[in-house]
Formats: sequence, C-alpha cells, structure tokens
Amino acid sequence: MEIKQAKFIKGIVGTDPILLEEKPQIAFVGRSNVGKSSMINCLVNSKSLVKSSSKPGKTKEINFFLIDEKIYLVDLPGYGYAKVSQKQAEKIRKMIMWYLEYSKANLKKVVLIVDSKVGPKEFDLEMKELLEDSGIDFIVVANKSDKLTQSETVKMKKEIENIFFEHKIFFFSSKTKRGKENVLSELLS
Ligand code: GTP
Ligand code: MG
Repeated sequence: MEIKQAKFIKGIVGTDPILLEEKPQIAFVGRSNVGKSSMINCLVNSKSLVKSSSKPGKTKEINFFLIDEKIYLVDLPGYGYAKVSQKQAEKIRKMIMWYLEYSKANLKKVVLIVDSKVGPKEFDLEMKELLEDSGIDFIVVANKSDKLTQSETVKMKKEIENIFFEHKIFFFSSKTKRGKENVLSELLS
C-alpha cells in the first residue's frame, strides 16, 4: 500500500471547521520526541513534509496532512518535554485531551507511539485509559526499533504486550522503514 500524495493543510490550537469535516482522521499521539512527525514523513515517503527535530517540543500545534485527498493524518504535539514550563506542559496536555475527547473530529483511529528503547511511560498508560474509556480504536507503534538489539527487542515486545495485550502492536523504525508496510495497510484498509 502506498500513499501517492500528501499535503499540509493547517495547524490549529483550538476549535476549527476542519474538525467537522467528514473525511476520517488518523491521529498520532505520544510523548515528546518519540518520533511522531518522523513517522508521518516515513509513511508518506517524505523527508520534510512534517517538521521534525532532535530538539523535543518541535510540534506545537495540531497539524493536519491530507493524504490522497481522502484521509487526514493528524500530528499532535508531544507530551512530557521536561524543559517547557509547567503551564506550557499543561496547555499541551489539555490540547491533546481536548482533540481526542471533545473536538468531535471524525477520528477513525489513533496511533499511540512509544519509544521502543524506553518503553511505555506514565503518559502512555494514561493515554491507554483515556482511549479505552472513550471507545477510540488505537494501535501501538514502538518506534526507533533500529536502536534495539535482537534480545532487547524480545524483551521490549513482552513488556509492551503485557500492557497493551488488547491492541495491535507494531515495531517500527522511521530510520530503516521497518514496519512501514504493515502499519500502512493497518491504517489505510
Ligand atoms: P515532538 O514534536 O517534539 O513531540 O517530537 P516528535 O515525536 O514529533 O519526534 P520527531 O519526529 O521530531 O523526532 C525526534 C527525534 O527522534 C529526531 O531527532 C528524529 O530524527 C529521531 N527519530 C525519529 N524516529 C526515529 C527512528 O525510528 N529511529 C531513530 N534512531 N531516530 C528516530
Ligand atoms: Mg513532532
């Protein structure tokens, strides 16, 4: 499965007409720096459509990318970047929760991205609860799998499966494109 066209539509920080559109939205959530933006670039075969950075806290708005004129990929800001103020962190957290729970967006699926080197953290568990309570369908993608040895991968797979046993789990790397085909067919089917 291949994405032929991807374009940036807009970034929002609150209510906006794009949320009322009928086209389905797939949202990418995860802690700051786990590679949400890089993953979208990887999936759409672009190096630079979505701004990514080694500096955490790169994405500050809810960014919408239209895929083949029919689906929105939604890049959310990352939660938990230590260097932002408490107030800023809370603002980001609220924005994420608002989009997922109250914005009424036509949310088809959420991609919860975890860092496969670090494993699931408190925010990921909180997200799991929220998504399950809201009845939002989600998959778990363990990114940066290129950083793991074979045995670390086995160990991390177990750890993630223990927590997210009711959900589909994919090991992924935006760097090597590992898992790209599987994730694409899961999202676009
Ligand atoms: P925020 O917008 O700040 O929340 O970050 P983000 O989750 O969008 O992460 P981003 O895509 O900006 O990537 C953060 C850093 O991780 C960058 O330096 C990327 O190059 C790196 N990175 C992303 N994916 C991978 C991967 O699969 N493997 C490796 N080794 N590095 C990655
Ligand atoms: Mg980002």
